[in-house]
Amino acid sequence: MNNPSSHRTIKIFDTTLRDGEQSPGCSMNLADKLLVTEQLEALRVDVIEAGFAASSDGDFESVRAIAAKAKTATVASLARCRKADIDRAWEAVKEAKHPRIHIFIATSPIHMECKLRMTPDQVYETAVECTRYTKTLCSDIEFSLEDCTRSERPFIYRIVKGVIEAGATTVNIPDTVGFSTPEEMCALIRDILENVPEARTIDLSCHCHNDLGLGVANSLAAIRGGVTQVECCVNGIGERAGNAALEEIVMALKTRQAFYNVDTNIDTTKIYSVSKTVCNVTGSRIQANKAIVGENAFAHEAGIHQHGVLANPLTYEIMTPESIGLPRNKMVLGKHSGKHAFTQRLEDLGFHLDENRIEELFTKFKELADRKKVVSDADIEALAHHTNPKAATQTLRLDRFSVLASDVITPVSTVRAYVNDKLIEQVSTGDGPVNASFAAVRMIAGLPNARLEHYNLTAVTEGMDAQCEAMVKVENGGRSYRGSAVSTDVIEASIQAYIQALNFALEEKE
Ligand code: KIV
Ligand code: ZN
Repeated sequence: MNNPSSHRTIKIFDTTLRDGEQSPGCSMNLADKLLVTEQLEALRVDVIEAGFAASSDGDFESVRAIAAKAKTATVASLARCRKADIDRAWEAVKEAKHPRIHIFIATSPIHMECKLRMTPDQVYETAVECTRYTKTLCSDIEFSLEDCTRSERPFIYRIVKGVIEAGATTVNIPDTVGFSTPEEMCALIRDILENVPEARTIDLSCHCHNDLGLGVANSLAAIRGGVTQVECCVNGIGERAGNAALEEIVMALKTRQAFYNVDTNIDTTKIYSVSKTVCNVTGSRIQANKAIVGENAFAHEAGIHQHGVLANPLTYEIMTPESIGLPRNKMVLGKHSGKHAFTQRLEDLGFHLDENRIEELFTKFKELADRKKVVSDADIEALAHHTNPKAATQTLRLDRFSVLASDVITPVSTVRAYVNDKLIEQVSTGDGPVNASFAAVRMIAGLPNARLEHYNLTAVTEGMDAQCEAMVKVENGGRSYRGSAVSTDVIEASIQAYIQALNFALEEKE
């Protein structure tokens, strides 16, 4: 029985792989999603929403693979209130240790009239019927009232009561368009619990979008109101302005535990690592001043602050970097550092790797240390995130390249690469050295129609010898493939990133 004033454990429902992936430019391939699943389980989220199985064959396959992989978390698939959607969702999650079907229908006047073209009675009947049908397949059912915060109270109460009686075990209250304010959100949850006593016997949940920048504030207000589950995304990614950020909700609850009087099951020391992984697989970046995981979140620039923190960290730090898995820089790593120190730093940065992978990264670290005096944490993270463990066995592998570029001649690139065991050399021209190199790689790969959709270069570490991260998105045969790589040489990083994306395309072709 849910009693909002007593101490509760809030379930964390992560929808990075569903709502997060719906945000423009955040699509992930299956390998990416499995990597994120692993990290979400290490973070100990309670529920992973793996996708929307009926939306495409690709989504169906990812939900199925995530369901098979997850060891502890509940795995949910979204479904509209349609029998075909529900069947597809069940087919995708049924092998999970803890499967859940998440059905939804819109309940606001504007959505019912203009989108669904249904009367409230029809929406009610559909909601209840679909919940009953879902119950014949799966015991764990979440029901969402889409656009709930713009719905009418009596109708909300009617639907919540109806779907609970039909078998829903979680009822989710979404602020679909990010319209609510914290006071309204708290009042809405309290009103539901007061007017529908049945809602105290199940998990009541919230799902807040961030259109007015209030996603996290509204989620915390919903917790004050009495929800027992919050839905959120790592780094706050998601439709439009995103979903409430997981790391901000969790750290607010932890840091202000005495105020909220709730716990979560989250291992907060995994936050930094999962945040980095989501950035890498989606190609999205985090603003430097973003709470918790932004580059500056724990950086004290002002002298007076630095002085205070040195005297006592609590002067300006309400939480420690270590609590999110971000170690303070203790030892400088360079060419004389040994494997033990390197392995320890990897662990501190959230990379728990097997011996072979550590060995491979250590070799790369030594190569880098030969080029740079000091290897920073950002350098190591870049290596760990971008050194492709499968690179040595992939179809397309770079052997060497050389570029000739100036402002008076057409840039020329000569690339030599392996395609399986065959060494192929190609000379191409282009608008610039990167463009010329990509043209050469494309010809070597035998993918002349591959089209570059997105290309981004960023310095991920500091100084003249900074490592540069290249991210590419390539379209081939109607599908998109991502690649990323780092190097102190921008052309090399670009070519390696491009090769990685083309390898995904080649893999699928095979
Ligand atoms: O924002 C929303 O309303 C949703 C529902 C499908 C839960 O994502
Ligand atoms: Zn949403």
